[in-house]
Amino acid sequence: MNGYRCLSCAATQGPEFAGFLCPSCGGNLDITYDYEAVAGNIERLGTDRARYLFSYAPFLPVKTPASRFPLRIGATPLYAARRLGQSLGLRNLYLKDDTVNPSASSKDRASAVAVRRAMDIGANIVSVASTGNAGSSLACVAAAVGMRAVVFVPETAPAAKLVQALSFGATVLAVRGSYDDAFDLCRTASDEFGWFNRSTGYNPFTREGKKICAYEIWESLGGRVPDRIVVPTGDGNLLSGMWKGWCDLKNIGLTKQMPKIDCAQSESSAAISNTVRRIRDGRPSRIDWSTVVVDEVNATSIADSIAVDRPRDGLAAVRAIVESGGETVTVADEDILAAITEMARLSGVFPEPAAAAPWAAVRKMVRNKTMEKDELVVCLVSGSGLKDVGSTQKAAGRPTVIDTSIEAVRDVLAAR
Ligand SMILES: Cc1ncc(COP(=O)(O)O)c(C=O)c1O
Ligand SMILES: [Zn+2]
Repeated sequence: MNGYRCLSCAATQGPEFAGFLCPSCGGNLDITYDYEAVAGNIERLGTDRARYLFSYAPFLPVKTPASRFPLRIGATPLYAARRLGQSLGLRNLYLKDDTVNPSASSKDRASAVAVRRAMDIGANIVSVASTGNAGSSLACVAAAVGMRAVVFVPETAPAAKLVQALSFGATVLAVRGSYDDAFDLCRTASDEFGWFNRSTGYNPFTREGKKICAYEIWESLGGRVPDRIVVPTGDGNLLSGMWKGWCDLKNIGLTKQMPKIDCAQSESSAAISNTVRRIRDGRPSRIDWSTVVVDEVNATSIADSIAVDRPRDGLAAVRAIVESGGETVTVADEDILAAITEMARLSGVFPEPAAAAPWAAVRKMVRNKTMEKDELVVCLVSGSGLKDVGSTQKAAGRPTVIDTSIEAVRDVLAAR
């Protein structure tokens, strides 16, 4: 790591900088590297398919030794989803199954890097604002290393996510308000009490964890580069991290080709998509990122993990979509619900609503002909269906209740 660069005004800070936002303009920061030094340290990359997060140490801005990290995070499977793909005539569809991370979402890579950073600077309480998954993830990772976690969530967060965070021993504060209210309160409280604030986008270390997912995909494909990676998007940090991972691989000379990063959002929480469309409609010959203001919306989606009014890593995500040439695809909540059971039935991977948005987006892209049928497409499955069974039950239906007799079974079979 050689410092930080503002994603908005490009002002730089040295590695000793201890803040989170750009001191010049308040923009989000991106961590920068000496890529020549990284390139000298990576001879094993590409040879070992079962790498876990901290074996990517040369790419990470943390010092604490790997041996101090007790959970297996990352190295999640990339499945060739043949039956699911065939249902739309797609020949090269893959699912990156992040539901198998310790807290069952993509958030664990980011939590682990943030907690390692907290250890490096001697912090002993970590905090986060979350729609639910970042909170359960931070609670999980903090429990693994013996740190205290304080989690701010909207009161309406799905029960399973709250039960996870509580079980891991976090202090869970359910705010009477939205995720955005929880975010602002977490920031105020963290400043007041000196907690290390892991909140998405605001903390530049989360993107560094999320980028590892790109290296894993690259390794799983044996060095091939997907045409598209479809990422479910709320704050935009998962998406900006995915792009950063590919930029790292390019910067150290491991790939020349780059994937398009497509943004899957709910129609009712589409701030990042709206911003990208607005920029593209203006057909600029060159974009001055310091002048771009990311839209805000009044988010209402049932896909709670991507229901965000003010995207906290919005500018980085907008830049990633534009720079990679990705699409923005907004889908209706009912299409997200239908995508959950379709994915589960045709692939064996069970997503929460947000994590089904990429498949709903792929359906729409095939219908609109913005996706070719032989493209190599990866959908990021970012969270487990067990995290929000309440929403999914609407699509999955209910079991058939029967008496304890074989006749009852026969009756049911006959009725079908
Ligand atoms: C399961 C899941 N998918 C997608 C996202 C979206 O990530 P981001 O808010 O960084 O866009 C989240 C974030 O909470 C999530 O939990
Ligand atoms: Zn700045």
